Amino acid sequence: MRKAVIPVAGLGTRFLPATKATPKEMLPVVDKPAIQYVVEEAVRAGFHDLLMITGRNKRPLEDHFDRVPFLEETLEAKGDHEKLAAVRQASSLADIHFVRQGDPKGLGHAVLRARSHVGNEPFAVLLGDDLIHEQDEILQAMVRVQEETGGSVVALLEVNPAEVSAYGCADIVPSTDEDYVTVHGLVEKPDVADAPSNLAVIGRYVLHPRVFDVLEETPAGRGGEIQLTDALQTLATAEGEGSGVYGVIFRGRRFDTGDKLSYLKAVFTMALEREDLGPALKQWLDSQKTSVV
Ligand code: G1P
Repeated sequence: MRKAVIPVAGLGTRFLPATKATPKEMLPVVDKPAIQYVVEEAVRAGFHDLLMITGRNKRPLEDHFDRVPFLEETLEAKGDHEKLAAVRQASSLADIHFVRQGDPKGLGHAVLRARSHVGNEPFAVLLGDDLIHEQDEILQAMVRVQEETGGSVVALLEVNPAEVSAYGCADIVPSTDEDYVTVHGLVEKPDVADAPSNLAVIGRYVLHPRVFDVLEETPAGRGGEIQLTDALQTLATAEGEGSGVYGVIFRGRRFDTGDKLSYLKAVFTMALEREDLGPALKQWLDSQKTSVV
C-alpha cells in the first residue's frame, strides 16, 4: 500500500479571520505548518505517494511542498545549513500530487476525486485537521487490519457522549482479534440521544477501493453533502469482496487543529517537547501559575 489521500479543500471557517487568506492547514504548530505533520505521519507509515484534494485559495500548500531555489541558494550562501535542511525537507518528503475538488460537495465527494489516481488498490485517507502525536501513531496498525480483513478500517476514539455529535459515530461489536473491533453501523454526526456509542471516527482511514463504487451511488446526506461515513455504512452491511468495516481504537494524543483550543494544546505540547523551546516555555508557564495564585 503506497497511496494516501489528504483532503484539504475545507474552508476553515472555525478559524476566521486567520483563515481568510491563509489555508487552515498552513497555520503553524510551532514552526511547521499543521499539514506537514500529517504528511510526515503518512510517510512514516510507508505512504510515499500522496494526493491532496485541494480547492481555491490552497496554493500555499503546493508552494510549501515545492522547491524554492532562490531561498535555498541564499541560505546556502550564508552557510545556514540548519534552515536549508528544514526548507528542503518539506519538498523531499514524498511524491505529492494535487487535484482540485471543484464542487464543495463533502468529504465523500473529495475522496471520490482520488479514484483515477488511486486505482484499484487499498489506500489511506488522512484528514488534514487531525494531528496525531508522533509517539502514538495508529496508521500502520490500521494497514495491518486492512490486510488481515480485506475490508475498510476506521480509527475510533472514545469521546464524551456529548461530543459525539461532532463526529461520525460507530456501532461496534468486539471481534475475535483484540487489535480491532467490527463496525456494524456508522452515523454521521448523530444527535446525542440517537448516538449508537461514544466512539467517534477520527480522521484516519484505510479503505478498500470498493468504496469508490459505493461513493458514486451515495446520495447527499447530513448537511446536504456526500458523506464518507454513509459510504462506509453501506460497506459495513455489504457482502462480497471489499465489504466489511473494522475499527482500531485510538488511545493516544490527537489534536483537532481546526479547533482553537485543541490547536493551542497542539502548539504547547509540541513546543514543550522541544529542546530549544521546552525548558524556557515550561519555566514561563510555571511562573504564570504562581502569579495567578
Ligand atoms: C469529518 C467526517 C466525520 C469525522 C471527522 C473527524 O467531519 O465527516 O465523520 O468524525 O471528520 O475529524 P468534519 O470534521 O470534516 O466535519
